[in-house]
Amino acid sequence: MNRTDFIKALPKAELHLHIEGSLEPELMMQLAARNNIELPFKSVEDIRAAYEFQNLQEFLDIYYQGMSVLQTKQDFHDLTMAYLKRVHEDNCRHVEIFFDPQGHTERGVAFEEAIEGILNGLAEGEEAFGITSHLILSFLRHLSEEDAFKTLEQAEPYLNRLLGVGLDSSELGHPPSKFERVFAAARAKGLKSFAHGGEEGPPEYVRECLDLLKIDRLDHGNRSLEDDALTKRLADEAMTLTVCPLSNLKLCVVDDLKNHPIRTMLQKGLKATLNSDDPSYFGGYLNDNYIQTAEALDLSTEELGTLALNSFSGAYMDEALREKYSAEIRQLMTQS
Ligand code: ADE
Ligand code: ZN
Repeated sequence: MNRTDFIKALPKAELHLHIEGSLEPELMMQLAARNNIELPFKSVEDIRAAYEFQNLQEFLDIYYQGMSVLQTKQDFHDLTMAYLKRVHEDNCRHVEIFFDPQGHTERGVAFEEAIEGILNGLAEGEEAFGITSHLILSFLRHLSEEDAFKTLEQAEPYLNRLLGVGLDSSELGHPPSKFERVFAAARAKGLKSFAHGGEEGPPEYVRECLDLLKIDRLDHGNRSLEDDALTKRLADEAMTLTVCPLSNLKLCVVDDLKNHPIRTMLQKGLKATLNSDDPSYFGGYLNDNYIQTAEALDLSTEELGTLALNSFSGAYMDEALREKYSAEIRQLMTQS
């Protein structure tokens, strides 16, 4: 089996995916028409041509503009189903996805429309494709602590259908410490804690994720490698890192996939995983991330299998299913 076929055959979990970042230009145009929303683009090609970013903020500006077409429960449902249908083709068996409720409530869309549409999509996707899932409510870190508390309050009726809270958006200038209290409140409600850290921000922000937000998983984490003691701590604590190579390339976190740190992460004992982040904006879904990174770094069967195994060990899922998928991966690794 060649490497690409091996990657396609691997069962995988996706642990870092913003559902709004899976909005393909075609669906964006359809929803804009359905909801009578004016877009600053005339065609799908126009939209794709705008996806050139020098940094995280340039992406975020376009990402928040793109999600303006999402208005109704049906829109959120359709978006979620489109994503699940697509990653099903990548042999993805389990997903834990983020949504950005403040990106919707800020422009007058009810919290309920967004969350119920996504939850309906996830339930339908499990029936259609057998993909199990969890939903994570992510706070926008460029907004205030007060706004995050308000969002947590809106989530109250849905607590048992949420896995946890996350922290995303503009990292620099918005340290995790800003959200220490709201994360403590979320944890007190039984929610898990996730945060983007070390994507553009310094190792100190990652330490704050650990010490102040008490994270259960670190999203990105690339810049942790600048600090040996921090790297060792992440390895010792068996912290899962949800790494996103094509995102890193598009947002200039790395200059070339050949210089991507994923192998170094594995060599340093980090529980790294591969994920797509915002696949519509960054040019690839889950398998594209595996395949392009494997090509660039000449990743071995052992390394690729380990990444897939890490995706299941870092997931919150039924133990029997985790074992079944992991056994499938180990079997493929011994055959190849
Ligand atoms: N929101 C969506 N994608 C993001 C990323 N890669 N970093 C921070 N916030 C985001
Ligand atoms: Zn992200």
